[in-house]
Amino acid sequence: MAQTIPRLQMGGKRVVLAVTGSIAAYKAVGLLRLLTQSGATVQVVMTEAATRFVAPLTFEVLSGSPVTSDLFAGHQDMKHLSLTERADLLLVAPCTANTLAKLALGLADNVLGTMALTLQCPLVICPAMDGDMWAHPTVQAHAETLRRRGAVLVEPEIGELASGQCGQGRLAAEETILATVEAIVQPRLDWQGERVLISAGPTQEPIDPVRFLSNGSSGKMGYALAEAAVLRGAEVVLVSGPTRLPRPSRVTVVPVVTADEMLHALTARFDWATTVIMAAAVGDFRPKQALSHKLKKEEWTGESLQLERTPDILLALSAQRTHQRMIGFAAETDHLLEHGQSKLRKKQLDMLVVNQVGGQQSAFGRDDNEVMVLTPDAPPVHMPRMPKRQLADKLLDHIGQVPVRAVRPSPASSSPSQ
Ligand code: CTP
Repeated sequence: MAQTIPRLQMGGKRVVLAVTGSIAAYKAVGLLRLLTQSGATVQVVMTEAATRFVAPLTFEVLSGSPVTSDLFAGHQDMKHLSLTERADLLLVAPCTANTLAKLALGLADNVLGTMALTLQCPLVICPAMDGDMWAHPTVQAHAETLRRRGAVLVEPEIGELASGQCGQGRLAAEETILATVEAIVQPRLDWQGERVLISAGPTQEPIDPVRFLSNGSSGKMGYALAEAAVLRGAEVVLVSGPTRLPRPSRVTVVPVVTADEMLHALTARFDWATTVIMAAAVGDFRPKQALSHKLKKEEWTGESLQLERTPDILLALSAQRTHQRMIGFAAETDHLLEHGQSKLRKKQLDMLVVNQVGGQQSAFGRDDNEVMVLTPDAPPVHMPRMPKRQLADKLLDHIGQVPVRAVRPSPASSSPSQ
């Protein structure tokens, strides 16, 4: 009979799971199961509103511990303070806009709020709300305040929301949350000592002061890789084209706009890096000449927009490699393996991650992805569709096995120029 092998990465660890009053509260049940399957002891705290979505009994049965929801009920043993005393992590999932605001402002009118004010352990917050609420400047300001204070925010995903509309606000996938929690509570640190240079997002090539050529890359894969690598102990510099993603904590982010700027930013830090992961969707063409004024419709002749090739950054870096592992990403609409193999060879890479772009399954903009991993000496490895954050860890497992070998002597450098 088939047996599932328990993952006990969090054996002996204590997690306080705080559930707040979002329609996504039911997803916290699945999350609780994953946490306990990973070996964690979980204590559940619920806000009053959360108890209206899911009965505390559900969490009590699955966690094997009573649920705390009333600030005054446990006052004899100071439950609101003692619960997190021995905790390794406080996980707020789902976190409503209301709770996010309370945490940012330090309001303490419920168990979670009081707990957060005496917290000694890491805080992981997983917002879930309507897309317009998440995008609201007040909510974003609260999220940023909490990030700056050291909390880790697991970004909500884009998808269908309770309102039936599509937007960014859906609670992140359980596996994404678990990967973040595991990485904090029981860090693997197998990337310690590595210096990882990652590119992410699209590039933009100006046509005139208000228009540009670009593509639909969201930057999510590169950002997920940066976050995963830093949590596994690496030093990470992320050279990012324009995205709407928040800066991952402890990652040095170098913002760029054009392919030329990306080339310069990466070249300046190339000697420092032990691994280069080129996840950016670099535009291949740019207007020969960017206009200094807004192009008027009447001026347009059909020949006005002449294009030229941008530099192939990865090819240029590969040609200068001394000791770096070189990893590329390929965006393909068809013949994925054939085109991928040819890019792997042409750009002399250690690994190429091939994704499908265009159509329903396009990797662009999504929170999950399905890829083929190509290496020079082994058969292709298929990685099934999974959240990008989880895929990032899987890819790092693979990349970590590529030996770092000196190709030619390097002008040693130990710190990236910022
Ligand atoms: N790349 C790059 N510079 C470019 C274009 C692409 O460094 N000007 C990198 C990408 O970041 C990616 C890899 O090369 O890691 C493959 O990119 P992709 O867009 O799939 O392929 P191209 O090389 O642009 O080839 P084609 O457009 O013919 O598919």
